[in-house]
Amino acid sequence: MFTAEMLESIKKVEATRAERMSKEPRRMTADEKEALLKAYHPDYREDGFATIKVGPNKGQKAPLELGQLLHSNSRILNENIDLTKVDYDVDVLVIGGGGAGSSAAIEAHEAGANVMIVTKLRIGDANTMMAEGGIQAADKENDSPVQHYLDAFGGGHFAARPELLRRLVMEAPDAIRWLNDLGVMFDKDEDGRMVTTHGGGTSRKRMHACKDYSGAEIMRTLRDEVINRGIPVVEFTSAVELIKDDKGQVAGAVLMNMETEDYLVARAKTVIIATGGAGRLHYQNFPTSNHYGATADGLVLGYRAGAPLLYQDTIQYHPTGVAYPSQIFGALVTEKVRSLGAMLVNKDGEAYAHPLETRDVSASAIIRECANGKGVETPLGSGVWLDTPMIEIIGGEGTIEKRIPAMLRMYMNYGIDMRKVPILVYPTLHYQNGGLEIGGEGYTKAIPNLLVAGEAVGGIHGRNRLMGNSLLDIIVFGRNAGKAASARAKEVTLGNMNLDHVKAYAEELKAADAEFDGVSPLLLPKYARHER
Ligand code: FUM
Repeated sequence: MFTAEMLESIKKVEATRAERMSKEPRRMTADEKEALLKAYHPDYREDGFATIKVGPNKGQKAPLELGQLLHSNSRILNENIDLTKVDYDVDVLVIGGGGAGSSAAIEAHEAGANVMIVTKLRIGDANTMMAEGGIQAADKENDSPVQHYLDAFGGGHFAARPELLRRLVMEAPDAIRWLNDLGVMFDKDEDGRMVTTHGGGTSRKRMHACKDYSGAEIMRTLRDEVINRGIPVVEFTSAVELIKDDKGQVAGAVLMNMETEDYLVARAKTVIIATGGAGRLHYQNFPTSNHYGATADGLVLGYRAGAPLLYQDTIQYHPTGVAYPSQIFGALVTEKVRSLGAMLVNKDGEAYAHPLETRDVSASAIIRECANGKGVETPLGSGVWLDTPMIEIIGGEGTIEKRIPAMLRMYMNYGIDMRKVPILVYPTLHYQNGGLEIGGEGYTKAIPNLLVAGEAVGGIHGRNRLMGNSLLDIIVFGRNAGKAASARAKEVTLGNMNLDHVKAYAEELKAADAEFDGVSPLLLPKYARHER
């Protein structure tokens, strides 16, 4: 199960445990954090980025792989799409079947709109489903949305768009109530009060959870609600380009059946992009905690149509991805493991950092330890220890099984009992902090009637996101987008539909000599098998 070097190192972790547990590691100063980030965070590696050569963010930085997609041509550039033959005609078209898309569709339906979800895999195949540790909301007596705002604003390096962050924290308690009423089985004590914990960078315990499968439980509930309402969901069908009309408004999308590759036309008075993240682009060769379809499609769709991006150069590497065993390399080890007491420890048994620093800081500290020979060698690189037996000592026997049963099961599948031995972790590509720029109502800056919700949005969290604020943003901004889109749809009259922007973008690429040899959106990871 473990190599000789690992076993030797585990002895040191065990030998230092009592001493480590007697005093909490100190927090880093702001200057120390900044120096650490600059030296070790992947966002600061020049060779991981390219300059965008066309479109609204021309001249700015983007991760290499995203840059290639922005410099690729449309799948339909040379196709003859007949826009007079409309396959679907709706008020609100939601692109994406994760938590944000489902929340949007439920609220649009509630408001009486004719709404449809289109999703390239199945409803629920989304990062929402992969989320583990919980969802933040300041709904207890010792807390307030203002406190929540301050934590998130500082954790995001003071770069969050104030109007977006304000909405996030103010509407958080209602988001929890909404989910609870829909049937989400939150962890509660014997009096029915929600059990809450800390996350990295939180000053109050405001993480509401469903054990360590919070996202799966939330997605289960949202999916049931979509199905029970009879909202149409077109699965295994991708949006490959937005359609505009002669007034410059968004007017729908060209869809592609993933099996037959036939194109379809969806006309819509309003469109919500809720396509999620980008982990499957594997920036800087990192493994990822993301679901199979996380390929930044919405960013490409919106950008080609003229919508600006914000903070596309900032990525979140979750500090604790699985470093060993190799079969689950990069899978998420929830931050809740550290919330419950596990320390981060290097190969010599030293607790080199506070376990609940913000994610960018924690990830950088792990990368530093490994780069400086303080990591434990693994078949695929190296990692540091997460001292999980501490959880049972602090919380009592049975805490791991009760609070993080999915983690326990995941490791048990490989013969590792995390109640008795520590586990090896290394950062994994987890979240795109940036995305399409929106205003407080959820609309993109440049294209009338085009909204964005969820991980495809940039600016809610600034340049780093705190744990539990993503499950929150998909609900808050998903619901708001659904309400706004259904109300707007009542006022919209569509003009003649066209795909002029696709040609114009191709010409801009050519003129800038920036064409990348590929097509976008990518839809599936590069290593997908295309068997027919
Ligand atoms: O660590 C986690 O459970 C992840 C949570 C999040 O990204 O919000």
